[in-house]
Parts: sequence; structure tokens; C-alpha cells
Amino acid sequence: MSQYQIAVVVGSLRHSSFNRQLAHAIEKLAPPNFSFRQVTIGDLPLYNQDDDANQAEPVKRLKAEIVAAQGLLFVTPEYNRSIPGVLKNAIDHASRPYGQSAWAGKPAGVLGVSVGAIGTSLAQQHLRNILAYLDVPTLGQPEAFIQAKEGLIDQAGNIGADSRKFMQDWMDHYVAWVIKHAA
Ligand SMILES: Cc1cc2nc3c(=O)[nH]c(=O)nc-3n(C[C@H](O)[C@H](O)[C@H](O)COP(=O)(O)O)c2cc1C
Repeated sequence: MSQYQIAVVVGSLRHSSFNRQLAHAIEKLAPPNFSFRQVTIGDLPLYNQDDDANQAEPVKRLKAEIVAAQGLLFVTPEYNRSIPGVLKNAIDHASRPYGQSAWAGKPAGVLGVSVGAIGTSLAQQHLRNILAYLDVPTLGQPEAFIQAKEGLIDQAGNIGADSRKFMQDWMDHYVAWVIKHAA
């Protein structure tokens, strides 16, 4: 059975981030031939095009992790109706130098949880626009706009009972999407 390594990009640096918790919890719904690794974006410098010819070590590491992956999973909060700056910074870094983007062709899923009722829908739409330009095919359906509520993730770090069927369906579609595009 083929193995699939997924690079997980969490758009929050917050210690107790709901989105990081969600990323860890949803991994558990994947089949055993899928492995997930959260990439670090908090140590990246602010993107500066002057540095394209001499990218910093954390940037090289990020790009290598993305290149090595067969798929991407973005799990991000919504900040002021868009994606957090730290996530955009990471995306910009790994897209450069021009013509040497690490993202191109990697199948992706987009998820997010926020305290607001619209559950990161605008952040996800902005992210999809960016990823479309970067030639990243994103799973369109099912969409998952998740509001942070008591019991979303249980004490053991699993998706809570009320959301499990929905999230399992999302994961099943995501797995099929990655396999289709990684083939
Ligand atoms: C700068 C900032 C902007 C935010 N803007 C939004 C927003 O536009 N929509 C929303 O639903 N929540 C917004 N929130 C609330 C986040 O949903 C909430 O802080 C959430 O816990 C962040 O995700 P995390 O727990 O993974 O860090 C914002 C929070 C911050 C700090």
C-alpha cells in the first residue's frame, strides 16, 4: 500500500490553539498509510524579496518539508475576515524564488475553526484564492466551517462525538483527493 506524508500548516502560533488541536484530532481519522507532520512557521523571518537568493535556514527547512510531502493540510483561524499574517508569510516564503515554489501541484485540504459563527469561511475563501494561484488543487467538497464549541474535541484529543461523523466524511474525501492527485 502506498504511503502518503501530509505536511500540516496550522495558521495559529497560539499555545492552546483550537486549530492545532483540530489538526491533531483529525489526523486520527485518516487511514494508517497516511502520516501527518505539522510544519513550523513561527520561526520564519518576515518575508523580504531581497533574501530570495539566500533563503534563511527555517525557510529552506519549510520548503524541503513541503516538497517531501504528497499532500497539504491547512488548518487555520480567521483573523479579521482573512488568513493570519503568519500563514501568508509562510506561503509567500515557500513560493519563492520565482519559478521555484514548493507548493505547486500538491493536493490540499482547507479547514478551520473559529469562535465566530461563520467558522473561518472568509479566511478559507481567501486561502483558496491564494492556493489557486500557486497551482495547489484544493478539495472543494465537503466544506468544513467549524465553530469552537464545548465538546468539539474531547479530553483524549479526539473529535467529539457530535462532530465525528461529519469530520470522518471530510477526511474520507480528503484522503481520496490526495490519492487522486498524488498518483
Ligand atoms: C487578530 C484576531 C482577529 C480575529 N478575527 C476573527 C475573525 O475575523 N473571524 C472569527 O471568526 N474570529 C476571529 N478571531 C477570533 C479567533 O477565531 C479566535 O481567537 C480563535 O481562537 C483563533 O484560533 P486559534 O485558537 O487556533 O488560535 C480573531 C482573533 C484575533 C486574535
